[in-house]
Amino acid sequence: MSDAIDTAADARTPAETDAPKDLFSKFDPLIQEREALMATGVRDPFAIVMEKVTSPTRAVIKGKETILLGTYNYMGMTFDPDVIQAGKDALDTYGSGTTGSRVLNGTYQGHRECEEALKEFYGTTGAMVFSTGYQANLGVISTLAGRGDYVVIDADSHASIYDGCFLGDAEIVRFRHNSVEDLDKRLGRLPAEAQKLVVLEGVYSMLGDIAPLPDMVAAVRKHPNCMILVDEAHGMGFFGEHGRGVFEEQGVSDDIDFVVGTFSKSVGTVGGFCVSNHPKFEILRLVCRPYVFTASLPPSVVATAATSIRKLMHAGNKRAHLWENSRVLHGGLREMGYTLGTETPQSAIIAVILTDQTQAVATWQALLELGVYVNLARPPATPAGMFLLRCSLCAEHSREEVDVIVDAFRKAGQMSGALSD
Ligand SMILES: Cc1ncc(COP(=O)(O)O)c(C=O)c1O
Repeated sequence: MSDAIDTAADARTPAETDAPKDLFSKFDPLIQEREALMATGVRDPFAIVMEKVTSPTRAVIKGKETILLGTYNYMGMTFDPDVIQAGKDALDTYGSGTTGSRVLNGTYQGHRECEEALKEFYGTTGAMVFSTGYQANLGVISTLAGRGDYVVIDADSHASIYDGCFLGDAEIVRFRHNSVEDLDKRLGRLPAEAQKLVVLEGVYSMLGDIAPLPDMVAAVRKHPNCMILVDEAHGMGFFGEHGRGVFEEQGVSDDIDFVVGTFSKSVGTVGGFCVSNHPKFEILRLVCRPYVFTASLPPSVVATAATSIRKLMHAGNKRAHLWENSRVLHGGLREMGYTLGTETPQSAIIAVILTDQTQAVATWQALLELGVYVNLARPPATPAGMFLLRCSLCAEHSREEVDVIVDAFRKAGQMSGALSD
């Protein structure tokens, strides 16, 4: 083989080589797409490193002080002094980890206290803490809905809801996103005697829109043998008088059988949970595989979660400020001509819809250079093949920071061509 041919072969990307097919071959189109994007000189949106985090709203990225607009730290609890102290105390008292499952050696006093805090927060008789919110959905959905049952889900459901369906043996029925009519129609086609679990989300995290829960509950109640689970991952802390979520704000608490949530957003740490008033709820601890067959959360984590949850019960001022931030950012972006995921500010998430990957990445990079970090979201995570810049606001963003963010979006849009002037 000549040198020239050797050199040409070396210049080809791994995905273009004549390497024999193996289990990685199915990723070749994605590898090629990423290589083409990186060849344009942009920074990898999925490989950002926070070198230092100085507050709920600030971090150092590539040596530059940056405003964080892409965390799910809605209530800014990650730097709360009481939360941090609780974690330190638990670390000193109980050590760094449980090294075991909740049903064997992995339930410490702190796990129970965290479940007590959740029961108080939600006013329910039952609460189960999982190691992540992903596992809470995986476990509860796959365990409740078994062979011969149906899980009825919104087409735009989070991956953990889909994966919960795939792990179980129930039939999966999808309805059009937020369509009460389609939900009603599909439930009407199912056998009346079959048991059904309808899974909804309070806030849909890609576009930041909320579910019309009262209408959905009314549609579900027309059909026999249905239970309703609402995932309030992005609604907890922010919606409703007690911060329970969209279901509380919309007045349907008595109609919801299960609430699933996470500690990785408003609570400001990591973990997941399910709460319920069902009298047989406790049995799930013995039959739910993603609860049984994994290690429990470290004591420091459950201590931070319990402290944060108790503080969120009295966080009315923070909620009001977060809504104000949402209104200011939504209004500012809309006024300068961006297409947004919702007509009005509906949650702490504001999604900016861009035309394609090139424009989305260029705007994302320009924002980063201007000192603002947002999340880039792309298919398959997004609905309808959209490319989005997802802004997640925090109750700790000051008005000045929101003004800086609005200004950065104006400049970034002009630099990338997303805005015409
Ligand atoms: C709607 C929804 N449910 C569940 C989860 C999973 O939460 P966790 O990060 O605790 O695994 C997420 C996380 O992004 C989510 O958006």
